Amino acid sequence: MPAISSKAPGKTILTGEHAVVYGFPAIAVPLPEVTANVHILANPLGAPGEIQIEAPAIQLNSSLRDLDDTHPFKLLLNRIANEFSTNELPSFHLKISSSIPPASGLGSGAAVTVAITRAISTFLGHPFPDDVVNAIAYDIEKQYHGTPSGIDNTVITYNKPVYFIKDEPPSFLELKSDLYLIVADTGIRSETKSVVQAVRDASEHNSSRFDSIFKQIGIISETAKHFIEEGNYSHLGDALIENHHLLQELGVSCPELDTLVQTALNAGALGAKLSGAGRGGNMIAMIANGQQDYIKQALLDNGAIKAFASRIPAKGNNE
Ligand code: PMV
Repeated sequence: MPAISSKAPGKTILTGEHAVVYGFPAIAVPLPEVTANVHILANPLGAPGEIQIEAPAIQLNSSLRDLDDTHPFKLLLNRIANEFSTNELPSFHLKISSSIPPASGLGSGAAVTVAITRAISTFLGHPFPDDVVNAIAYDIEKQYHGTPSGIDNTVITYNKPVYFIKDEPPSFLELKSDLYLIVADTGIRSETKSVVQAVRDASEHNSSRFDSIFKQIGIISETAKHFIEEGNYSHLGDALIENHHLLQELGVSCPELDTLVQTALNAGALGAKLSGAGRGGNMIAMIANGQQDYIKQALLDNGAIKAFASRIPAKGNNE
């Protein structure tokens, strides 16, 4: 059997994180510049169920059997086997690598899950359609992250900009023209699960204030959708700035994120905000094409440990 490879992009949230967990809309886009990559090699001499998993980035080189039952790879492979109505997958070697930094708001976990699911189902001769891949990735997110909205697995599976409301079918967005971003990393790792829980705890103590903030964030996503459809990126930038202020009010920013957001705006970005769960991880700056080098350098000079430019292509402009 030939080797099989699969990859899935990272993602960033343009507007609406946290509020999306409570049923308000959010907008996310795939980040094609960073990917999770999976490679499968058949092991024709191996007994069924003999599966070796290698993920050098997390110092993992283990047989599936030796992994703890709660390990996300074990949960995922069991879920995939279940989808094939079998208890045991055939023997193979699974190699995972990723250029998406973990625990930093770029969808690393969901991208690895999607790439593994696609690779294994293709290897077994029945590539799952996107809706099955998405459902599996959402199940794994739920087991691993507690109460995810489902936005990460959706934008990564379908690899398209999405206007997303929890438990509703996704609505995909077509950009009028290319959208340019700089993504910059504070270097502070932050677990989505604990930040989402902290927001939940705080909102239970002050529900009217938090409900009002979630609602305002939801309105920003609605207006941002219109700006995207109109190609009005200058107004979209303003929406991102307003969204960042509301995320500060939710208590999920931090001095390092605020410094990077301010730096990007001072350097001429159209808009900037933290992206993802917050309290670390990455921020995004929306920029005009041509500003990449200057704004990226400003961010690196002001605390970012890494930064990269991304182009989200308009429909029909994928080269
Ligand atoms: O995985 P992250 O850090 O990009 O966070 C996802 C966005 C949240 O709204 C904070 C959580 C969720 O499940 O939507």
